[in-house]
Amino acid sequence: MQTSTRNELLLERSRCAVWHPCTQMKQHETLPLVPIARAKGCWLYDFDGHRYLDAISSWWVNLFGHGDRRINTALAAQLETLEHVMLAGFTHEPVVLLSERLSRLTGGALGHCFYGSDGASAVEIALKMSFHYWRNAGMPGKTGFASLAGSYHGETLGALSVTNVALFKDVYAPLVRASARLPSPDWRQAEAGESPRDFAIRCADALARHLEAHHAETAALIVEPLVQGASGMAMYDAEYLRRARALCDRYGVHLIADEIMTGFGRTGTFFAHAQAGITPDFLCLSKGLTGGYLPLSAVLTRDEIYDAFYDDEISRGFLHSHSYTGNALACRAALATLDIFEHERVIEANQTKAAALQAAAREIAQHPRTRHFRNTGMIWAFEVDDDNPGFARRFFERALRHELLLRPIGNTVYFMPPYVISAEEIELLTGRTVEILGQV
Ligand SMILES: Cc1ncc(COP(=O)(O)O)c(C=O)c1O
Repeated sequence: MQTSTRNELLLERSRCAVWHPCTQMKQHETLPLVPIARAKGCWLYDFDGHRYLDAISSWWVNLFGHGDRRINTALAAQLETLEHVMLAGFTHEPVVLLSERLSRLTGGALGHCFYGSDGASAVEIALKMSFHYWRNAGMPGKTGFASLAGSYHGETLGALSVTNVALFKDVYAPLVRASARLPSPDWRQAEAGESPRDFAIRCADALARHLEAHHAETAALIVEPLVQGASGMAMYDAEYLRRARALCDRYGVHLIADEIMTGFGRTGTFFAHAQAGITPDFLCLSKGLTGGYLPLSAVLTRDEIYDAFYDDEISRGFLHSHSYTGNALACRAALATLDIFEHERVIEANQTKAAALQAAAREIAQHPRTRHFRNTGMIWAFEVDDDNPGFARRFFERALRHELLLRPIGNTVYFMPPYVISAEEIELLTGRTVEILGQV
């Protein structure tokens, strides 16, 4: 069969059989799906050999490129011994090793690791654990949660309750429990002359007022440290996290760090919260955890929290589960990912790469149509002046024609490339983005 026919057939079958995520399916009448036959490094290929530079790491999961030899080898070896066993009542080496290593990466401050399968399930786990901790600790009135304006923590009902993106939340409002929404320290909202740090302090003052009034009924504050991804790569000063930590300590409220997007070096340090010199009470991880290979999430907690569940009474335990909790293959992919970090000084190498991309993107930053060009670690974002509706879709389509996978959020275009992006690929990404800015 000719390859272009294979492309077309797959698209048609996909439209007939697959309900694609985060999509108004009718749009695919005019916006074709992109068939992917294989992938290698930063590139995705269709059956005809058309290629697309995966400049958003396949929804922010991929770290070391597609088809990484080291992760492939580790997975193949794991397949020969154990693919999966239920984790209730059983254990296995990959999950123990992974839990030990993740804990070490928090300096041992977060001693136990609970597993889920996706980011949203990690958020559900952290919310439930926080609530249940307070109940076990004799404070059953602490049932509320607080999150930031523009926060995104996933699409399941609990996660949606602390998500503040209208497009995803409003339809389901009758199903979703209310939570407190606090000002985001997103520095784009600072007043003229106000530094990102000063604005962060102003937002932390609002948090202080909220917790002073509501700490007795608040279980936890949940934040995306340093970068709020899904609402448009809002970036903020680490001072907010320092103050939030101090306020949560003062008022007896848990701090949940949702590092599902920001973890694993994305913001320039292994975990984003490290840039504030703080430790959260709960740390949610997913996406890059397996290098972008397999669905796995983890919630790490302080031992004091774990101890509050450790009891003769069954119902004081955390009776939450997912069938694939601690899947051995996914844990092995995660271990291979951590090996790469350990052996290859990834964080240092990323600094050089980030400097190169920043320099290559100078024309974008200075382009007359762009605003708020910003960067944290291996994330870049900017807004494009364009009042016509459908900007994101038009930009996405045009980018595909330029061999780029870019998926703007509203008028925000962002780059979140795999860490293996080369100097030539950086030039291609930034150069072609400038071309697209002149066309869309
Ligand atoms: C910060 C954050 N939390 C939670 C999630 C939800 O993760 P998942 O899509 O794996 O459920 C995401 C996904 O983009 C995210 O960016």
